[in-house]
Parts: sequence; structure tokens; C-alpha cells
Amino acid sequence: MESAAALIQLDPLIVWTRVNWAQIFGNRNPIRVEVGFGNGSFLVAMAQRDPASNFLGIEIYSRGMRRALRRIERAGLNNVRLLRAEASAALPRLFGPEEVGEVYINFPDPWPKKRHWKRRLIKPSFVETLYRVLEGGGRVHLATDHFDYAQEMLASFEGQDGFLNLAGEKAFLTHPPEERLPTKYEQEFLREGKTIFYLVFQKVVLGGAGLAQISKL
Ligand SMILES: C[S@@+](CC[C@H](N)C(=O)[O-])C[C@H]1O[C@@H](n2cnc3c(N)ncnc32)[C@H](O)[C@@H]1O
Repeated sequence: MESAAALIQLDPLIVWTRVNWAQIFGNRNPIRVEVGFGNGSFLVAMAQRDPASNFLGIEIYSRGMRRALRRIERAGLNNVRLLRAEASAALPRLFGPEEVGEVYINFPDPWPKKRHWKRRLIKPSFVETLYRVLEGGGRVHLATDHFDYAQEMLASFEGQDGFLNLAGEKAFLTHPPEERLPTKYEQEFLREGKTIFYLVFQKVVLGGAGLAQISKL
């Protein structure tokens, strides 16, 4: 109950200035962000699995918000907050440099028609934002069932100095990385026998902590 009440209060958090996250979460635990959380099942499962982290879900449509709030309430979680916003506009305003520990972007809308590709979320300017807000050693986890979007993701991340592709240069995984929890879309795609492309990029700060933390997927 308490968690949902807190979330409803935070729902109109369209604050276009920096946010005091320690105040919002009530602690200074690492922050993990999921962009486009859909029905919230992945976000909630992650938050249950890792109570020592704070989770922020950013979702552009309100449809899933109610369902996600119910899940959070049922699970009695107090380490999750939801924000209705467009992620590429919100992230650079909500976070200063190195404030985010991990980012998850699962099955971003692929906009399959070529004339719509410019609407895709993953592009060099957004990747630059991700790099700025991530702490050294932090990771961006992506999954898509679209081969050409996966290629575009690779090009955008590998074009950003300081991101290391943990699957190896120009490579992605076609099996889920260890410990990955499946999302709703992922479960449907797997049932349909589709190939899924998984990508993980780590922010490497030369001479800093980032290098020491690199581990294979
Ligand atoms: C294909 S669904 C995937 C949902 C969920 N991640 C999953 O894997 O089951 C893409 C989700 O991203 C959201 N979304 C798309 N563009 C977004 C943006 N720019 N900012 C925030 N959310 C976005 C959509 O509303 C939708 O819920």
C-alpha cells in the first residue's frame, strides 16, 4: 500500500531540473533505470531480486503504469519509482554525470519501416546521454528481435568513445546473458521461436574504476 501511495505522489514528476534522488528513494543506493518498462514485470522482478539498488522506470505511455503500480504494491516494494516521460528528453534533465549505475532498454519500438527509422530511440545523441549519466563501469543492457535495429545499436554504441561491447567488437549475443530475467515481449518472442539479439555495453573510464570491473558476459 505504502509503496503505491508514494508512487502516485511521484507520478507527476515531470521536473525539468535535476532531481534529488537520495531524497526520493530515501537512501543513496545505486540507481538502475529501465526505459520503456511496458507492464513493469521486468522492473518489479529486478527490484525484488536486488533490494540494495533503487529502480526508476521511465515509460512514455500511461497504459502500463497502473499495472506496474499494482505489481509494486503487491510485492510491497519501496525501491521502485515510475516516471511517465519520453526517455531521451527526460534522462539528460533528471540525471547529472555518473548518477546512474545501470540502464535496461528491452525491445525498444523498432519502427520497422525505413522512413520511420528516425523515430528510433537508440541513436548517437541518446547514446551520448547514456554515457554521460552512467557511472564508470556502469552498463547499458539492450535486447531486440530486429536484426537491423541491433546493427544500428551496435553502430551507435561503438561510435561513442568509452563504451565497450562486452560481446566483442561488432558482435551481439543470441542467447540471454547469465542472470538475465525475461521481459513480457521476450517471453512472447521466444515462444514464437524468434531470434533475439542481446547487447551489453560498459562505460570504461581509462585509468579509472571502469577498467577493473570488466567481466565477460
Ligand atoms: C515494444 S515495448 C517493450 C516493453 C517491455 N520493455 C518488454 O520488453 O516487454 C516498448 C515500450 O517502450 C515504450 N517507449 C517507447 N519509446 C519510448 C520513449 N522514447 N521513452 C519511454 N518509453 C518509450 C513503449 O511505450 C513500450 O511500452
